[in-house]
Amino acid sequence: MRIDVMTAFPEYFRGPFNESMIRQAQRRVKLELKLWDLRDFTHDAHRTVDDAPYGGGAGMVLKPEPFFEALEYLFAQGLKRERARILYPSPQGKVFDNRYAQKLATAQHLVFLCGHYKGIDQRVIDYWVDEEISIGDYVLTGGELATVVIVDALIRWIPGVVGDMDSVKSDSFEDFLLDAPYYTRPEEYRGMRVPSVLLSGNHQAVAHWRQQQREARTQERRPDLYEKFKNNEK
Ligand code: 6GU
Repeated sequence: MRIDVMTAFPEYFRGPFNESMIRQAQRRVKLELKLWDLRDFTHDAHRTVDDAPYGGGAGMVLKPEPFFEALEYLFAQGLKRERARILYPSPQGKVFDNRYAQKLATAQHLVFLCGHYKGIDQRVIDYWVDEEISIGDYVLTGGELATVVIVDALIRWIPGVVGDMDSVKSDSFEDFLLDAPYYTRPEEYRGMRVPSVLLSGNHQAVAHWRQQQREARTQERRPDLYEKFKNNEK
């Protein structure tokens, strides 16, 4: 898989993309991840990527030219536009979830366009963008953090990134349930004991307890999800 990220703030990504899972993915499954600095596709001395919105109002809008030129440059290198899914993280998008992440993980080539300030010129979206994605109902200052979130969530679904795919599948939201609580050594810490069933060595009892915990937590914390779980059971 190949992922390109176009941003006015490439520094944002250096931490997360060089740590943990995303780094593993680049090593283990030939994930090729490339950052593009929109300022490299400007032509003025100040390397201007944004401007005031037509019609007035607060905030700035990312100009169309750097996106067009960066994307044209990308697709002039032999990569096929038809094989790429161009994504624009924005609060106006379809809400991202685990299922969406799983779907994106099957793509050969993803391109993320990061907006900042008020967003990006609508002509970039109309001409290039295949999908607009929101990571939830709150406003971030830019698409960079949303891109990191989406990339992290989707690479877990590429076979080989996480050692054990069964573990990925048993995490929260598969089958509409939150995950169970987990404990590690010591058995007792500051008077708090690990639930005895987990020490019993009875795998069936453990599985039963975990399932029960998942259902109870979901019912209490996420009645919306629990409703889906109940409907899915029928
Ligand atoms: Cl994808 N971008 C921004 N800027 N804010 C968000 C978002 C994305 N998703 C939720 N809030």
